[in-house]
Amino acid sequence: MEQTFIMVKPDGVQRGLIGEVINRFEAKGFVLVGLKLIQVSKELAEAHYDVHKERPFFGSLVEFICSSPVIAMVWQGKGVVASARLIIGATDPLTATPGTIRGDYGMSIERNLIHGSDAIETAQKEISLWFNNKELSSWEPTITPWLYE
Ligand code: RTP
Ligand code: MG
Repeated sequence: MEQTFIMVKPDGVQRGLIGEVINRFEAKGFVLVGLKLIQVSKELAEAHYDVHKERPFFGSLVEFICSSPVIAMVWQGKGVVASARLIIGATDPLTATPGTIRGDYGMSIERNLIHGSDAIETAQKEISLWFNNKELSSWEPTITPWLYE
């Protein structure tokens, strides 16, 4: 089953939005298979955002991700990578559609609350960067037949 990596960034944790984020994925029908609160090291933040290392905002982005704890999660379900990006909304919260997490709670591109993997291959890379196998549970809720035919 498809999995994606979701992180509540430092601003989301500081603003008390952990429960709100979890609720949206849970209520949709996705399954939580990994969860931890961590203070991110510079090395991990740099590796996670390696694709942006030449961008002018890279240094401040890494500094921000390390500035306060984050919630790292793995969510599972049919089409979860693309669906999570829709639940999260556009990168700039001011243009993100209301009803999305960034659209409902964000005000600035540098403080956009949450990260979600942008493709299936990226998700696999990010999950193995942030979690080891022992930290992930393979389980299925008993309500699964009520979610999928
Ligand atoms: P993320 O990777 O954090 O889920 O966000 P995203 O895919 O929607 O956006 P991406 O292009 O991957 O950018 C990564 C993060 O960099 C910050 N950013 N700042 N100052 C700027 O112009 C700028 N552009 C991007 C954002 O916090 C974005 O989430
Ligand atoms: Mg991205």
